[in-house]
Amino acid sequence: METARRYRDFQAADCRGGVRDFYALNHARQTFAFVEAKRREYLPLRKRRMGVWEAVEALAGIVDDSDPDLSLPQIDHALQTAEALRADGRPRWLVLTGFVHDLGKVLCLFGEPQWAVVGDTFPVGCAFSDRIVHSELFAANPDRAVAEYASETGIYERGCGLGKVRMSWGHDEYLYHVLREHLRDEALAIVRYHSFYAAHREGAYGFLMNADDRRLFEHVRDFNRYDLYSKQPERPDLPGLRSYYEDLVAEFLPDTLAW
Ligand SMILES: [Fe+2]
Ligand SMILES: [Fe+2]
Repeated sequence: METARRYRDFQAADCRGGVRDFYALNHARQTFAFVEAKRREYLPLRKRRMGVWEAVEALAGIVDDSDPDLSLPQIDHALQTAEALRADGRPRWLVLTGFVHDLGKVLCLFGEPQWAVVGDTFPVGCAFSDRIVHSELFAANPDRAVAEYASETGIYERGCGLGKVRMSWGHDEYLYHVLREHLRDEALAIVRYHSFYAAHREGAYGFLMNADDRRLFEHVRDFNRYDLYSKQPERPDLPGLRSYYEDLVAEFLPDTLAW
């Protein structure tokens, strides 16, 4: 657990400041208006066309590994997550999901700051739960002064389903849109909500979910232990694994995707 927490913290910390510094930016700046602006910018998916391997390799080059205890190149995390699923005999769609789940971090390549790419995610447009990590830092979020976002449900209806809820902007939501035409619902829920710790770990925001979300979150929770606990100090043998993953990617996804 400690290691897992530290890995998440590392992702959030961007190697430069501390975790709290990261969330001070994230929680102050992830407003409903910011999320809408990023959706308008990115969700037409007209930045680039590239295949999964191109995205994996592009990401490997940009992740800061200045802390060898905590950092892993993204390709290693992708392979370790997927290999842990494969070793447990999990279905191929889930192994594939493990391999691709963090590829939305290519947002960094497009110039997005870390606070708008990684870290825990949460709904905007309603009150921020005190079960979100460092929730005290939402005091600096301008949405706190918007009356219609102030109540528990804010602009949403109770039980409306998470598909109608605007989540903070980051790699999860972005990749969901890149993959939504291609993968099954369970895989898409994993991609979209794997950083929504307030919900899948802390049980917050259940009032926004519908029955489908509750079913899909079983898969999100199941996946989470592979995401967090598959870290190994030894680097995976990419040359030895490459053909397996090339076949796996080709089985589920087209040669190129719109990003
Ligand atoms: Fe992630
Ligand atoms: Fe991950």
